[in-house]
Amino acid sequence: MCGIFGVITTKSDAPSQVFSGLSDIEYRGYDSWGIASFIGNSFQVVKNIGFLPKKLTLPKANLSIGHTRWATHGGVTVANAHPHLDCTKKLTIVHNGIVENYQDLQKKLKGHTFVSETDTEVIIHLIEERMKTEKSLLRAVAVTFRSLKGLNAIVVSDGKSIVVAKKGSPLVVGKSKDGFLVASDPNALLPYTKELLFLEDETILEMNEGLSTYGVLDLKPFKPSFQTVDWDYSASTLKNYPHFMLKEMYEQPQVLRNVLQNLDGIKDLAKVVKKAYGTYLIGCGTASYACLLGVYLFSAIAKKHVNYSIGSEFDYIEDYLTDKSLLIAVSQSGETIDVIEPVTHAKVKKTTIVALTNTLGSTLYRMADIKLLLQAGPEKAVASTKAYIAMQANILLLSFAVAGRLEEGARIVEKSAKEVESVLKKIPQIKKLANRISAADHMYILGRGLSFPIALESALKIKETSYIHAEGFAGGELKHGALALITTGTPVIVYVPNDETKEAVLANATEVKARGAFVIGVSFQNNSAFDYFFEVKDTGASSVIPHVVFAQLLGYQLSLKRKINPDKPRNLAKSVVVK
Ligand code: G6P
Repeated sequence: MCGIFGVITTKSDAPSQVFSGLSDIEYRGYDSWGIASFIGNSFQVVKNIGFLPKKLTLPKANLSIGHTRWATHGGVTVANAHPHLDCTKKLTIVHNGIVENYQDLQKKLKGHTFVSETDTEVIIHLIEERMKTEKSLLRAVAVTFRSLKGLNAIVVSDGKSIVVAKKGSPLVVGKSKDGFLVASDPNALLPYTKELLFLEDETILEMNEGLSTYGVLDLKPFKPSFQTVDWDYSASTLKNYPHFMLKEMYEQPQVLRNVLQNLDGIKDLAKVVKKAYGTYLIGCGTASYACLLGVYLFSAIAKKHVNYSIGSEFDYIEDYLTDKSLLIAVSQSGETIDVIEPVTHAKVKKTTIVALTNTLGSTLYRMADIKLLLQAGPEKAVASTKAYIAMQANILLLSFAVAGRLEEGARIVEKSAKEVESVLKKIPQIKKLANRISAADHMYILGRGLSFPIALESALKIKETSYIHAEGFAGGELKHGALALITTGTPVIVYVPNDETKEAVLANATEVKARGAFVIGVSFQNNSAFDYFFEVKDTGASSVIPHVVFAQLLGYQLSLKRKINPDKPRNLAKSVVVK
């Protein structure tokens, strides 16, 4: 979703730093962009709709702020793109979030000219108004920020300093040898610095020659605690791959091995799960399917009932949480608002919070009592692949650890890493399949037991990347509706692992075949019900890992065939930080 990048430096390359910073955070998803640079006595703004150009000639300046916008208030127009200016053009703002009371606030402003339909522009005119009575930009921003309802992060400048205030939306500050930077993604700061300050909610700070940090409510100063990270910037670049999605899929065997390096963290968490009175797994999108898989794995392996909910629904069913419950929040970014909100509410009930996240320093990471990192490295393609695989592996290992069989779990995860390597070698075969089915309007995916969440995740991957309508079903639900959708040639993927679901799901394959479906069997062995067979060796419960990699690769190949950029599906964002 919206991305922010701002720089104040003693050098004159702030605008070009902002441009390359915005390019680094493009992956978050956006539909317009803009950069404001302080030149002479006022701000000059370049903005446009669509994606950033490959190259951009920008003026020299010491201070610049930029934004990638994902439209919420007002359509995708140049006027609505950030940065926005006040009436004097001496103040500028970029903003992530939604100001819930912006219409009420706008009514109070008299004599200001508005050029956009955004809530953001209201904020900068409010600050302009406040500057008439407050002594400094910092105070004017603080007072204005307090009047905003909702979760917001703003970066404001008067050309001399940059003032940052946040509640809810993620922001990270970096200290470089030439000045300070602020961004909505820490990875974008790595070319300039590894000294990072992850901002807490309700803080405000001012960056000029120095940096001062305060509480936004009382303007009490506090000492910022910068962390030095050892992250490698090149890990978040394309290297020689055509797309991040492909690169990230190729990294999966290594990601699985990274997860296996962290068995101590999993063992410790298993002890907590055993003691908890009720364990709940929540996540959104792809992460929610990893959570649902957890329900099956905990039942099959640990003989334990855990609960599951998608993050956005959890608030409606969380009345039973107590201080003895355990909430495992699963999120690649650690910023998804529909995870953060229920976690915030669970914290009020003193429920123990576990963050299973890919992002050190993220909001979820900071909120959690127990933190387990996914070990997947930076993920940039909107469609999650390697982070999802890491979620599956961590949750699988956790269920084995709760059962006291962690070594066995580790063995089958290692086996699945090898099998993922052989699935990756079969890309030409998957490409042929994609060519065969790429004109389909609908596609169905069937699985039972452990393979049911895999069917749901596979359908999501295919939808996001190819825009083909794909739906996952539990095999048993077929006769309760889905069978009516099968016509001649409809592609149906059927997951047939070597487990208790084999016979029943093969019966489903036969049923859809009898109605003319083109049956794609993903299995350890061929069957006469399959029109197309994709072999994945049996690795026990961890077979779900290479199975899902098959669907990822199919989605990727379908996107290429249908001339879609797999890294940037239309209308979707990598990190969904507004409701
Ligand atoms: C967005 C992304 C998905 C991701 C979901 C949850 O929809 O496009 O790839 O699965 O958010 O994100 P999270 O960061 O919480 O795992």
